[in-house]
Amino acid sequence: MNLKGRSFLKLKDFTPEEIRYLIELSADLKAKKKKGVAHDVLKGKNIALIFEKTSTRTRCSFEVAAYDLGMHVTYLDSSGSQIGKKESIADTARVLGRMYDGIEYRGYGQEIVEELAKYAGIPVWNGLTNEFHPTQMIADMLTVQEKLGHLEGVKFTYMGDARYNMGNSLMVACAKLGMDFAACTSQAYFPDPLLVEYCREVAEGTGASITLTEDVQEGAKDADVIYTDVWVSMGEPDEVWEKRIRELMPYQVNQEVMGYAKDTAIFMHCLPAFHDLKTSVGRQIHERFGLEEMEVTDEVFEGSQSVVFDEAENRMHSIKAVMYATL
Ligand code: CP
Ligand code: NVA
Repeated sequence: MNLKGRSFLKLKDFTPEEIRYLIELSADLKAKKKKGVAHDVLKGKNIALIFEKTSTRTRCSFEVAAYDLGMHVTYLDSSGSQIGKKESIADTARVLGRMYDGIEYRGYGQEIVEELAKYAGIPVWNGLTNEFHPTQMIADMLTVQEKLGHLEGVKFTYMGDARYNMGNSLMVACAKLGMDFAACTSQAYFPDPLLVEYCREVAEGTGASITLTEDVQEGAKDADVIYTDVWVSMGEPDEVWEKRIRELMPYQVNQEVMGYAKDTAIFMHCLPAFHDLKTSVGRQIHERFGLEEMEVTDEVFEGSQSVVFDEAENRMHSIKAVMYATL
């Protein structure tokens, strides 16, 4: 398997074999790190990390993974560089491409990261756009494999806002990897019909299936994985909270939902999550709407089926694999 020189912009660009290779490579690099086996094989290389939206996991994962691989890192946020305001994406790409060996980009439209990759001449990695979050997929699938022992045939239920980066990406990942994906949410939050059609075509060749349902019991029944994400994503206006809460509350992941799933089911969330009042946004929502928890209850988040912190750790191992494979 040779992914050298490739950008990692969305899973649609990769075959099932290539995706499986990245998951295996993540597991291998994780084992090396745990055993203390040095793997600083990319010494002398430099990467740039562009974050037009905030991040904890993705930024730290890229930084730690880069250091473990022997690389140096430059962090650029939206206020501290010329990107997009005084300098176009194409010009920025050609400048950074002369200095660095790889670029991570987190921002808004998918077309921006695609443009960056078109002009940079070096691998570009998508650290999240409105449409896709591909590095999260490698971590999530590694986590499912570690916890359940396999991917094919896993019933994977995503609840909540399924028409944004997480719902889209998980549907594509499941389709490519032969899994049974269900988006369980109100119809207005179903993924883009064109992407559903693409995934159903992929599923024909991999044995996967794609279900869209508004019925919680049907969606969660016998699930192996119950997954959710925040109801309002980065970059969306504050005004949408009221409508989101009203429309998505029926799809909150609580103990009743977990009860429909298999006894062995795991709960996953890309994080950050609103499951208590220990965040400023959580407290604001509490003041405005009286809620103490949103997309997932504290009981489920802290419960024995929750694997969210293993999942978060796997972000680092899988981002390392993506950089290792493409550099
Ligand atoms: N899951 C995830 O991407 O987290 P951050 O926004 O903290 O990077
Ligand atoms: N849908 C979320 C994912 C965060 C990792 C967002 O875009 O804010």
